[in-house]
Amino acid sequence: MQAPEVLYRGECIALAVAETPEAAQEAASRVRVSYDAQPFAVELSGKGGVEVVQAKAMPYFPDLVKGDPAPLIDAAPVSVDATYYSAAQHHNPLEMLSTVAEWRDGSLIVHEGTQAAQAMKLGLAIALSIPEDKVRVISPYVGGAFGQRGSISPHTLLAAAAARRVGRPVKLTVPRAQIFHATSFRAATEHHIRIGADRDGRFVGGMHLVRSQTSRFDLMPYTGEETTSRIYGWPAFRGATTLVQLDTQTPGFMRAPMEMASFFALESAVDELAEKLSMDPVALRVLNDAKTDPISGKLFSSRNLVQCLQRGAERFGWSRRKAAPRSMQLDDGTLVGWGVAAGAYPAYITPAIARIRMHANGRVDLSVGAHEMGQGVRSAIAAVAEEELGVPADHLRILIGDTIVPPQHVTAGSTGAATVSIPIAKAALRLRGTLAELAATNGRAAFAGVDPAATRLRGGRLHLPGGESEGVANILASAGIDHVDGEANGSAPGMKPEAFAQAALGKVAFSGPEFPTHVSFSYIAHFVEIQVDPLVPRPRVTRMLSVADFGRVLSRRTAESQMLGGQVWGIGAALTEASEVDPRFGGFLNNNIAEYQIAVNADVRSLEVELLDAPDLTFSEIGAKGVGEVACVGAAGAIANAIYHATGKRIRHLPIRVEDLI
Ligand code: MOS
Repeated sequence: MQAPEVLYRGECIALAVAETPEAAQEAASRVRVSYDAQPFAVELSGKGGVEVVQAKAMPYFPDLVKGDPAPLIDAAPVSVDATYYSAAQHHNPLEMLSTVAEWRDGSLIVHEGTQAAQAMKLGLAIALSIPEDKVRVISPYVGGAFGQRGSISPHTLLAAAAARRVGRPVKLTVPRAQIFHATSFRAATEHHIRIGADRDGRFVGGMHLVRSQTSRFDLMPYTGEETTSRIYGWPAFRGATTLVQLDTQTPGFMRAPMEMASFFALESAVDELAEKLSMDPVALRVLNDAKTDPISGKLFSSRNLVQCLQRGAERFGWSRRKAAPRSMQLDDGTLVGWGVAAGAYPAYITPAIARIRMHANGRVDLSVGAHEMGQGVRSAIAAVAEEELGVPADHLRILIGDTIVPPQHVTAGSTGAATVSIPIAKAALRLRGTLAELAATNGRAAFAGVDPAATRLRGGRLHLPGGESEGVANILASAGIDHVDGEANGSAPGMKPEAFAQAALGKVAFSGPEFPTHVSFSYIAHFVEIQVDPLVPRPRVTRMLSVADFGRVLSRRTAESQMLGGQVWGIGAALTEASEVDPRFGGFLNNNIAEYQIAVNADVRSLEVELLDAPDLTFSEIGAKGVGEVACVGAAGAIANAIYHATGKRIRHLPIRVEDLI
């Protein structure tokens, strides 16, 4: 719309606005466009792609280097050297991308399900050349986000510009077919993995060299080696990414956007190494577990990956596994395979401010920076508020995802509950302290000088450790007020002071996984059973057990749901999901959910999850780390390893489909 060149297939070149969707679609269908064809490249495998070495936002995404692994791997008695591939994959949430934009007295109000209300506000202000304080973004709930709505997409700007042009509110919904070209997706990637080991299985060095897709006009960094470099105790390691510029829209974030494919590659390679060593793949992983962070040398804040592997093996019945491929068959000849893989995901903390108001009638208003996209952050907030304030969920009003309460930092990278619980607990502590002071001032001497941390709010009463208590309504009435407030910032160790100002502007301000004194990750171990009919070798995941360590569990139901969802993401990524590149015209061919196959009920049999629930009190005073994304890290690797065990076929690309096994 701003220049005659079309940068990629599916780019928006015009927008029709009408009274009804039908009229708008009719108008759009009548737009006639003529193009001059230009050469282009859309496949990672080559054919016109331009390699961009180190085209990363340096120094934020440096290569990860410890020593020089190549000669150590060359000299190792046992090694693997293999390349793995993952297809581009697209989000397909039930809720379509949709915006309502409205101008009132020169100010813009945008209603859209987003993970990043503050960033959307900033982006709109810049793109529309208006002051930031003239934009408000409102996003109380999102029906599926998972990275797709962490960046600003073209349709949001179009709706806002169109509403300004026509002087009326405009609603714009991106049809399913256009999602494939109008917003972010998981990039196609290639992973060259090398691991060397001694005869006992101890790793002597590792290498993880990535080629990942980006667009011609923008850079989407790939940081998958950040996690693969830290999951095992590598004596030497080299991780590096080359971005490959292709003529598509810019890829973006999709549920463990880098770790999903990186751990498919690494964990497949570890499985290949275990076979060469004639070692049990669980034992090989336990043997090589990192004791300290290989890259920084720092301690891990907590790390229970070995417990995840051992607990999973015990519950899955791993000791009954026969090592040789094709050795476990059902009576009818069905091939059975058992596979294992580990996963990890960085633990981050982002700037968040909690403001709590407790009213005399027991009701509580709570605002904080967070976005509810179905992952359950409202449930986690309610759980922390109940613990810290004794307030039942139906007495709690939560205001999140609205830029009238900044900072609404992007809720991504599994930061939601782990981040917001920190300021909520602190603000609640201050609120209890204020209540104790008020009580003391009004003649309750027992409340004078008490440590707020020792107080409890239960049933509308403030309790002291000695058994004394006083009703909140009485405390407030004696003080002649009708509410009490508590506010706090939740920062992370080493968080820069300017992080809050940056976040309030809409910029990203992540802390982690490396902190001043420690390094923090969430961990998982997946155990998978695959069955394959030898005649029509379509792999079926018949059983999946995942055991995770993400510190303290704040909300069991939503955390377990995140894990179940992660397993399903893993099944889809491993077995069905691929955005098929169109080499004739660019873009993606299967832009509908009939042909872009996500895992559905028939693909999902028995799923089991277990949460270690071991608080990581070095990571934060709450002890909770992220669960959403770690849940699918390694899942595709475990499935690929189970397929190898069932069939004897090592498939080094995702997805793995029936044609690969014939
Ligand atoms: Mo995260 S990529 O926002 O699920």
